[in-house]
Formats: sequence, structure tokens, C-alpha cells
Amino acid sequence: MCPVLFQGGFVMKRIKLDQRLLAAAEFAEIGERVADVGTDHGYIPIWLRQNGIAPYVIASDINSLPLQSARANAEAYLTDGISFRQCDGLKGIAPGEADTVIIAGMGGENIISIIAGSGWDWSGKKLILQPMTRQAQLVEWLYDNGFAVTGESFAYDEKSSYRILKAEKKTEKKPRAAYIRCGFTYGRYGKEEKEKLVRALKGLKRSKNPDEAKAAEYARILEDIEDAYGT
Ligand SMILES: C[S@@+](CC[C@H](N)C(=O)[O-])C[C@H]1O[C@@H](n2cnc3c(N)ncnc32)[C@H](O)[C@@H]1O
Repeated sequence: MCPVLFQGGFVMKRIKLDQRLLAAAEFAEIGERVADVGTDHGYIPIWLRQNGIAPYVIASDINSLPLQSARANAEAYLTDGISFRQCDGLKGIAPGEADTVIIAGMGGENIISIIAGSGWDWSGKKLILQPMTRQAQLVEWLYDNGFAVTGESFAYDEKSSYRILKAEKKTEKKPRAAYIRCGFTYGRYGKEEKEKLVRALKGLKRSKNPDEAKAAEYARILEDIEDAYGT
């Protein structure tokens, strides 16, 4: 049964997040104003408000249907303190409105283009990112653009494993290839990434016209993985 809260005499249903969304939402810190970009259903903003984490949340999406669904869910869960915005990335949100920006459930390239296209000064702000694809490319891009990964967690469901990153403006040397690819801590996620690399390398070697540069890169990352984690 769903736990209930009482707000203004009404019974408020508690929202329950799946592991992936919970891992992202849990990186938000108490008292910080949050923008959830590409909110879709709006579950993260509702959770952040119901749990007293964020005093104010902006739930934004480029499309109107997801925003309608976010609004309807916020009403169903009797959640206030959420501003709904239809905009591309951060284009309809002023930098002074949010301390933390969450971008979850999108491809790594889309996440990069939202951060890069924002024009924001990211000093003192936090990013919580959950890429569905190209996560290593995203981590590389962060380091090449003056961010560092300051937090990392993993979530799993029956379909996939997910990497959740917290990043802040901080100049740090780019981490070794193993950490970029498999994570700073090595577990199920890292092992799966290593297996993908092994399979990709085998595929390249079997191909009639192998991409030698790619094969050399994969072999180098695999060596780094063995060296970094001893596995
Ligand atoms: C797969 S859903 C992920 C929803 C939610 N964040 C999650 O992790 O479950 C991606 C959402 O991002 C929105 N989206 C895609 N590109 C966007 C952009 N450039 N700016 C804002 N929203 C975007 C889509 O409309 C969609 O609702």
C-alpha cells in the first residue's frame, strides 16, 4: 500500500520512484532549488517536493504532452511548489532560478547539447545526469569543459543498468580511461561495460575491413581496466 501524508486536511499519496529515478533524485541536496529538464511525467519534481528536499522545482520539457502529464501527476499527488515550463533545454530557465539541474533519461549527446547550449555560468551549480547512451562520451566532455564528477551511483532494473553522475564546475585532470568507461567504483555496471568492449573488439577483429584505430582504442581501454581494477 502506498503511504499517505496529510496536506491541508487532504490525504496526499506518496510518490514512489523506481531505482533509476530515485538514484538521480537522491543526489539533490536539501534546500537547493532544482530544475528537472526533460521531466516527462514529473515524478522527480513531485518526489523532491513531497520529501521536503527542494523549496521550489522547475519541471521543464520541450514537448507539451509530457508537461501536461507532469501537471496532471502533480495535481494527483497534491504537490505544490512546481513551476512548469515548455522549453528546449535550459532556454526558458534563468540561471538564477536553480542551484541544481537534473537531466535524466536522455541520450548523452542531447545532455551535452543542453548543457553546452545553455549559456549558463555553471560555477557553484550542480548537475545530476543520467545518460541513457554515450555515458563515456558525456564524462569525457564534462572533464574537457571544466567540470568534474563529484558523485556517482548506479541503478539496475530487469532491462538495464544505469549510471548516475553528479558533476560540478571544478578543474581536475581527466580520469583514466577505465573510470570514464566503467565508473569510479567497479561493480556490475563496470563489468557489463567491460563485456561490451570485449564483444565490440572481437566483432572488429572478425570484420573484413576492421577499423584499426577503434580496435586499438578498445584494446587500450581494456588494458587500462585490467590495470585500474585488477580484473
Ligand atoms: C525519455 S524521457 C525521460 C523522462 C524523465 N526525465 C526520466 O528520466 O524518466 C525524455 C524527455 O525529455 C524531453 N526532451 C528531449 N529533449 C529535450 C530538450 N532538448 N529539452 C527539454 N526536454 C527534452 C522529451 O520530451 C521527454 O519527455
